[in-house]
Amino acid sequence: MTQHTTQPISGQKPGTSGLRKKVKVFQQANYLENFVQSIFNAQPNCAGERLVVGGDGRYFNREAIQTIIAMAVANGFGELIIGQGGILSTPAASCVIRKYPSCGGIVLSASHNPGGPDEDFGIKFNGSNGGPATESMTEVIYQETLSITEYLKADIEPINLDLTGESKRGNTVIRVIDSVADYVELMRSLFDFDAMRALITGGEFKLCFDAMHAVTGPYAKEILVNQLGASQSSVINAEPKEDFGGHHPDPNLVHAAELVDRVKTQGLDFGAASDGDGDRNMVLGRNFYINPCDSLALLAAQSSHIPAYAEGLAGVARSMPTSRALDRVAAKLKLDCYETPTGWKFFGNLMDDARITFCGEESFGTGSSHVREKDGLWAVLCWLNILASSGQTAADLMRAHWAEYGRDYFTRHDYEGVDADAAAEMLNELRGKLETLAGTSFAGIEVAQADEFSYTDPVDATVSKGQGLRILFVNGGRVVLRLSGTGTSGATLRVYYDQFEPASGKLEQNPQEALQPLIRAADALVGITAKTGRNAPDVIT
Ligand code: G1P
Ligand code: ZN
Repeated sequence: MTQHTTQPISGQKPGTSGLRKKVKVFQQANYLENFVQSIFNAQPNCAGERLVVGGDGRYFNREAIQTIIAMAVANGFGELIIGQGGILSTPAASCVIRKYPSCGGIVLSASHNPGGPDEDFGIKFNGSNGGPATESMTEVIYQETLSITEYLKADIEPINLDLTGESKRGNTVIRVIDSVADYVELMRSLFDFDAMRALITGGEFKLCFDAMHAVTGPYAKEILVNQLGASQSSVINAEPKEDFGGHHPDPNLVHAAELVDRVKTQGLDFGAASDGDGDRNMVLGRNFYINPCDSLALLAAQSSHIPAYAEGLAGVARSMPTSRALDRVAAKLKLDCYETPTGWKFFGNLMDDARITFCGEESFGTGSSHVREKDGLWAVLCWLNILASSGQTAADLMRAHWAEYGRDYFTRHDYEGVDADAAAEMLNELRGKLETLAGTSFAGIEVAQADEFSYTDPVDATVSKGQGLRILFVNGGRVVLRLSGTGTSGATLRVYYDQFEPASGKLEQNPQEALQPLIRAADALVGITAKTGRNAPDVIT
């Protein structure tokens, strides 16, 4: 029997990046099936077409993939491409969708959220361009979840996900492919592998990549060790685990503590880490942390060192809360610079329309038009290629960048698990005051302008409202407040601070200290401490 009766299940509204819930929620009867059928219902032209399926290997990945295969067979897909072992990093999935023209792909991941039976799972649909479904497609999928009455699932033998090769179920060809090969080939086409190999095997340069027991282990081993000659021991936590070894696979100074410690105690020249599904990156120089906003700006400024970008960039983009360091580079290079809402889905249209080549977010996401997702290893290779061809250290490059453009001090403070109503109330109150703020001062700093960010897509004119409250101060400081759209429990309040320091100013301050006046002004204005009942944020990045 392939037709199964069902009824809508509430709460299947995708957030910033697909539908993310606890594994236990996904394990409820029909929960996964309803959402997958809703995705298929929203793609009426996919019959006989190709679909790519893969995930970050977290708990429930394999089971979910077998369900998706049985449903895709019953829904009449012509061919399924599946990563071996059910593994495809998010950027690799995007690469595969683009390389083998597909109707789209299903990526199973909750990114940097922990994995395991009591932790998180996620599912998202990527369109034929390889990028996350647009806001309007996401809405169509959500509407389908509200009216679903049946799903189609074939009664078939499970596929052996561990063996590459082709088989058939019903009329559908099922191809299990090497998860790494296509991605590596793409990287080889972008970067100067010889120059990077010379740097890495030259004897002086020491690096470490922390795969955090997540999906990038096999990719990093193949590229950094097998192709670029790094020692086996320079890729740590390289074996993907269903629970990421019990850690948060989130590349920041808190969760990638092992890497941070190695870079420090072993005097390494370069350290990097990626997240659960391989789309984020954190980069460290020797005793030198590189903020993702600065990393994006520097990569854009130095992109001519990289063969694929040597002829120039079409333009650049950043999410609104990301610091404006990128804008300064764009102005100098005379590039268009777009400001989009949070989430990668907004960059896709700009890339498809050839308006931008590089883009990124403060949340450790950097990418280019080689795929339609952010790409952790790609960013690491950008850095290695620039280090190799400039002959400079990461810290020297960054310092020279600040000396040229000035420095945008940036930090994000996250208040996790706060009361959702209290957080919404706080933001509502601020929203109500926005129009009256200009000209008034808080903790001694005057507000120049305040608004709620709204974005009109320059390609298809779609309007996305309510994308964060922002307050610009006369001294050039900026505070942005928004609620996270990726959490699975309670609310997470994100407060972003950035302050420009000109090249002639103090360029070597601790960001938390440099941003203190702005942090105090925001607290005086919004009452974050009083209203959240928290003396300090839970996570500072
Ligand atoms: C977070 C980040 C955002 C990123 C998303 C997916 O979303 O802030 O930049 O695109 O994860 O990786 P948020 O939880 O803030 O909605
Ligand atoms: Zn991710």
